Amino acid sequence: MSSNAGTPEPGNHGTPEPGNPGTLEPRNPGTPEPRYPETRAIGVLISGRGSNLQAIIDAIAAGRLDARVAVVISNRGDAAGLDRARAAGIETLVMPHRAYPDRAAYDGALADALKSRGVVLVCLAGFMRLLGATFIDEFPNAVLNVHPSLLPAFPGIDGQRQALEHGVKVAGATVHFVTPDLDAGPILLQATVPVLDGDTEAALSARILAEEHRIYPEAIGRVLTGRWRLEGRRVTFL
Ligand code: GRF
Repeated sequence: MSSNAGTPEPGNHGTPEPGNPGTLEPRNPGTPEPRYPETRAIGVLISGRGSNLQAIIDAIAAGRLDARVAVVISNRGDAAGLDRARAAGIETLVMPHRAYPDRAAYDGALADALKSRGVVLVCLAGFMRLLGATFIDEFPNAVLNVHPSLLPAFPGIDGQRQALEHGVKVAGATVHFVTPDLDAGPILLQATVPVLDGDTEAALSARILAEEHRIYPEAIGRVLTGRWRLEGRRVTFL
């Protein structure tokens, strides 16, 4: 496991170390020089639509989230989210998982791409690949995911459909730390929405998605402050 100043590990609370300009080369000549070492560079991993990526971009632009998206990586070249990133002037990478011999090789390449761009927090936003311990160990307590259910209910795909079919009256969204187990990491934020009589999967999904777009940037901002504690599975914001 490599160390990374500014990685939002618990116990690393308070003010980040002051920058040490001049020791690192800027990675994007031509763009304003960020202060190094950066403590707010995030990487976003997508596979498709990218509406949560857009919510993150919008929150940063509106000053609601103090972060910089250093890179957007998709495992699919046709992910619509790539266009959202390009439109915002963010570097994009397409890394198809099939180009790598196994999960560990793919995970390692992903981690290298993110680390070489100074990423301290990885945000999965509709990224349809499981990440193994090889990857997660490189970013201890610094990989987040947003999921369209009130975890631990309805993990996996189609959380909204699972909720409808189960007949729950309240559904919602969860932002959590990523562990090697699917949708099972410590919970950072959740938001609820009602399940209405006559709801379709599309209607419920849209209601949940609006909450995802609200709580994901908020959770990212809170984690980046470093003012939080993880005890067992419980996350407390300080
Ligand atoms: C969202 O519903 C998210 O909760 C789930 O995948 C979907 C991604 O949507 N993990 P988008 O690509 O962010 O629009």
